[in-house]
Amino acid sequence: MSDKKLVLLGTGGTIAGVGTQSGDQTVYAAAQLGVGQLLAALGGAFGGADRLEVEQVAQLDSKDMVASVWADLARRVASLLERDDVQGIVITHGTDTLEETAYFLHALLAPAKPVVLVCAMRPATALSADGPQNLLDALTVAAHESARGVLSVCAGSIHGPEDVQKVHPYRLDAMSSGDCGVIGFVEGGRVRQLRAWPEGRPRMHLMERINGPWPRVPVVLSHALAQAWMVQALVQQGAQGIVVACTGNGTIHEELLEALLAARMRGIKVVRSTRCSQGRLLPGPDDALPALPGLSPVKARIALCLQLLEEEQRGSVSQT
Ligand code: SIN
Repeated sequence: MSDKKLVLLGTGGTIAGVGTQSGDQTVYAAAQLGVGQLLAALGGAFGGADRLEVEQVAQLDSKDMVASVWADLARRVASLLERDDVQGIVITHGTDTLEETAYFLHALLAPAKPVVLVCAMRPATALSADGPQNLLDALTVAAHESARGVLSVCAGSIHGPEDVQKVHPYRLDAMSSGDCGVIGFVEGGRVRQLRAWPEGRPRMHLMERINGPWPRVPVVLSHALAQAWMVQALVQQGAQGIVVACTGNGTIHEELLEALLAARMRGIKVVRSTRCSQGRLLPGPDDALPALPGLSPVKARIALCLQLLEEEQRGSVSQT
């Protein structure tokens, strides 16, 4: 095992949650315990405690994620990754938007070292809390010499940033990589790798813009009886881009489609994703609107926001 450091960053979530009774599994307050307390709950189970650094970056229920927390987290992670003495980073995070933070951090940093998001479905006070084992597993992945990219660890599975998705409201194994499958497992304190670690292209040039304001990019759902007014209202409110969570293989209710095409005529970027939780949208030659295959609607939203920020940056450079 290398003697390089692991850094544990806390952001809140159920893993740091507290209930009033040990039987509480779904009634509790998230983001109550400090990340140092979560580490203390491991006792001596993690052998490398002397090479751990611990920092609290935020303390929130991840449903309330805001641009300033993402910016603080991304900057902190980027600066730690530059340190030669840091082997990997673990971030405690709520399950509700973990997949968005994972996708965002990987799209921005595409790290050559492991950055491991870890969560729990039961609060720290529950009779059989899952946080301590998940945290131990995440530290094991972060200490793995060949691991890289932004990974998520939950219930013994290692997920990649494009695939991970919360698929269950309360079961312990609430994260899935869909039909892509997990990257690997943590079994008895060892990593069993099944697929390649995620790669990518870092976009450090966006670092100065991620504090916000982010582009206005809502997600619109195509559904039975969908109507044009939803899109028209968003256009009136200054939407700069729209992600459509389409039915099936990227189809859209005809009334919604008409409004979306009109929005596009006004310069608003419109992209398609699918409502289906498995598989990926297959674009066709006659598609009226472009698609972001393989990305869920919430991740397509981040991808479109980053694209708009890049375009804005290129525009402001060419004007100077
Ligand atoms: C949160 O996302 O912060 C609360 C829910 C959870 O962690 O499971």
